[in-house]
Amino acid sequence: MKSFDVVIVGAGAAGLFCAGVAAQQGLQVLVLDHSEKVAEKIRISGGGRSNFTNRELDVRAPHKHFLGDNPQFCRSALSRYTPQNFVALMQKHHIPFHEKHKGQLFCDRSAEDLIQMLLAECNGSASGGSVTRWQPCSLKDIRYSDAVPEAQRYEVDTGQGTVHAGAVVVATGGLSIPKIGATDIGYRLAKQFNLRVVEPRPGLVPLTFDDKAWAPYAQLSGLSLPVRIETGTKKTLQGFDEDLLFTHRGLSGPGVLQISSYWQVGTDIRINLAPEVDLQEALMAAKQHSKKLIANELNAWVPSRLADTWASQDPAWQRPVIEASDKALNLLAQRLSAWPLTPTGTEGYKKAEVTVGGVDTRDLSQQTMESKQPGLYFIGEVVDITGWLGGYNFQWAWSSGHACAKAL
Ligand code: FDA
Repeated sequence: MKSFDVVIVGAGAAGLFCAGVAAQQGLQVLVLDHSEKVAEKIRISGGGRSNFTNRELDVRAPHKHFLGDNPQFCRSALSRYTPQNFVALMQKHHIPFHEKHKGQLFCDRSAEDLIQMLLAECNGSASGGSVTRWQPCSLKDIRYSDAVPEAQRYEVDTGQGTVHAGAVVVATGGLSIPKIGATDIGYRLAKQFNLRVVEPRPGLVPLTFDDKAWAPYAQLSGLSLPVRIETGTKKTLQGFDEDLLFTHRGLSGPGVLQISSYWQVGTDIRINLAPEVDLQEALMAAKQHSKKLIANELNAWVPSRLADTWASQDPAWQRPVIEASDKALNLLAQRLSAWPLTPTGTEGYKKAEVTVGGVDTRDLSQQTMESKQPGLYFIGEVVDITGWLGGYNFQWAWSSGHACAKAL
């Protein structure tokens, strides 16, 4: 029977990166993945250019950009392998990249550069270590025994036979985009070894609304505008200043994706559709002189299609500003600057970029990612740590993979 120091399940971002670092420490590593293609999520990420990290990540305050039952859990790994460390690796491999919005770093050419870099790291061990990759290869069963030498304590049944290993790293990601290979195997393995799992749900995902309630806005599909979007109570308030995109079924765009990770079923979200202006003040000032229709006046602050849609909802808003009542103008300003909406749901894992929830961090070591089950590690998105949109999720994959590899 073949033996490896470690078997890594999942050849995605976290698994591949962890494999390379482990091999460079002299370990014999087996990576297996049931998908035919390696790192498919990296390939489709960032519109094909992969937003691979974020310069604004504050490693001392991870709760700013990560969520989970205990976002502080990721501090140790993030501060030992930082965005700057990953940038240095990209530079070592001469991969050109650029910064976009809010510290987000993207490949200049293609995400394929990043995948090739991770594969080169796996193949480039000078220390006698190596990475063997089996793909496509299913994982059938994992058994643990403490009655054998530690180096053989795991017996792993795969589509290519059974292997022995001293450690198993679960890097199987979350549930988003099942059509490219996402499965719940990571959570099932955690449960098999009596580890807790925080109920998973889709994150960074478009929000949907009741068909009837949404009907007046469906015609705005394709319209995008900068907004302030919030959810939560005074104590749990979370907000983003980002773009919003109207769709046929609801709302999408970066602001909505960000807020979706915090949104709880049954609660509302509030949107300021004209965040740059005090609309109440502006409409009252306009009322002193403007003979324009309210919709045309609104046009100065929000796109005309949106202004028309809103003004058409109440006859009191279909008049020249100068003739409108204070009450009507105040109500309009109030509704546009704190539009309350209760989503009925999300577009689900088919469209979600990430999974919120996962293996409970109370059962993992924040230094090593080892679980309470000796020699069993969890890294990347399968863990109950979720980053904001903007490269934070890949950085978590790199940092958690690194912390784990260093402990193997
Ligand atoms: P990942 O999903 O990368 O890898 C898991 C691997 O496990 C897969 O290869 C899968 O085939 C394998 N696997 C699953 N079940 C298995 C089984 N039963 N047996 C064997 N293998 C199995 N993040 C970011 O920071 N910047 C970005 O630009 C984007 N963009 C983006 C776009 C889209 C469309 C999506 C869906 C997601 C993103 N993300 C992102 C999120 C990012 O892709 C994600 O957080 C990381 O890929 C997580 O890395 P992991 O290695 O944990 O899982």
